[in-house]
Amino acid sequence: MELPSFPPSFPPSLLTRRLALPLSATPLLRLGNQYSRDLRAERESEMSDSGGAPWWVVVTGASQGFGAAICTELAPLLPPGSRVLGLARSQQGLATTAAAVTKANPAITFSPVVMDLATAKAMDYEATLKDHLGTGQSTPPGQALLFHNAGSLGTVKYLREMDDATRLSTYFDLNISSVILLNAAFMRLISTLSGKVIVKVINVSSLCALEPFKSWGLYCTGKAGRDMLFKVLAVEDPGVRVLNYAPGPLDTGMQVHARTMTQDDDIRKTFTSMKEEGKLLSCQSSVKKLLQFLEKDEFKSGDHVDFFEV
Ligand SMILES: NC(=O)c1ccc[n+]([C@@H]2O[C@H](COP(=O)([O-])OP(=O)(O)OC[C@H]3O[C@@H](n4cnc5c(N)ncnc54)[C@H](OP(=O)(O)O)[C@@H]3O)[C@@H](O)[C@H]2O)c1
Repeated sequence: MELPSFPPSFPPSLLTRRLALPLSATPLLRLGNQYSRDLRAERESEMSDSGGAPWWVVVTGASQGFGAAICTELAPLLPPGSRVLGLARSQQGLATTAAAVTKANPAITFSPVVMDLATAKAMDYEATLKDHLGTGQSTPPGQALLFHNAGSLGTVKYLREMDDATRLSTYFDLNISSVILLNAAFMRLISTLSGKVIVKVINVSSLCALEPFKSWGLYCTGKAGRDMLFKVLAVEDPGVRVLNYAPGPLDTGMQVHARTMTQDDDIRKTFTSMKEEGKLLSCQSSVKKLLQFLEKDEFKSGDHVDFFEV
């Protein structure tokens, strides 16, 4: 995919212009009932191809924001018997997501698992996947989806002011290492299953994977690193469909952090203006677009795609 050519230093005016595209400028976006009908019809056709077998879905950061929206928007589309595993630290947030998922589709199971991804070990991921999805002896799912959604902005100070090695390690433990470990455990489990399983791995990325934002050095580095990890996965495992999806500016807790903590005045004011001017997206609208894009399945594995470009 051709990358957009932005100047090396990303002026807030350009950021605002780029992120302010109206939803109507994206013809593929079909919201509401029409979207649901179309997607459901396509899904039913795909399900009939695979015999309507239940799916396995893993979502990190399922307690709030974009991760919770992935769970609740996907739930009504899943075949009966599907299993959704949601990981996060907040028990209460996961319970809220669990209730919404069950309401949306009582025929599937949602497993809320409290886990700090910054400290979890490989064996924790292996055990959790086996406990809540299945083992090599289980009936294989029709599809297995892994959404690497959890993430943090971290310290939003200029690079010249970074002085805490422990914070840096913790940042990359969550935003890079946990992704590698969970992904590896998931791939190993899938490789033990008999029969053909459609596997899709989605990394929730950001414009920051491509563009430098002043005082967001950790976040930009983490997102760029994650994108490359999944490009490598795409070439290592051509049978797996891999997507780096930048969901657009979302009205979530992460945006509150961006508006209140960002050291760089221009970046902070840009995000404050976007909130005040109603330019932040709802998680639901971005998830709908992601699910539709996954459904069409026309991307090159490993691509980075942006909400405003699909
Ligand atoms: N918001 C935006 O404008 C925007 C734009 C582009 C990309 N994104 C990306 O979208 C994804 C979701 O962001 P969001 O806006 O929904 O943020 P959010 O509201 O802050 O949610 C972050 C999620 O990650 C989980 N998480 C954070 N630290 C964790 C840890 N140590 N262990 C386990 N889970 C942890 C949180 O759960 P707990 O706190 O319960 O652990 C929460 O569910 C992120 O990857 C973000 O980089 C966001």
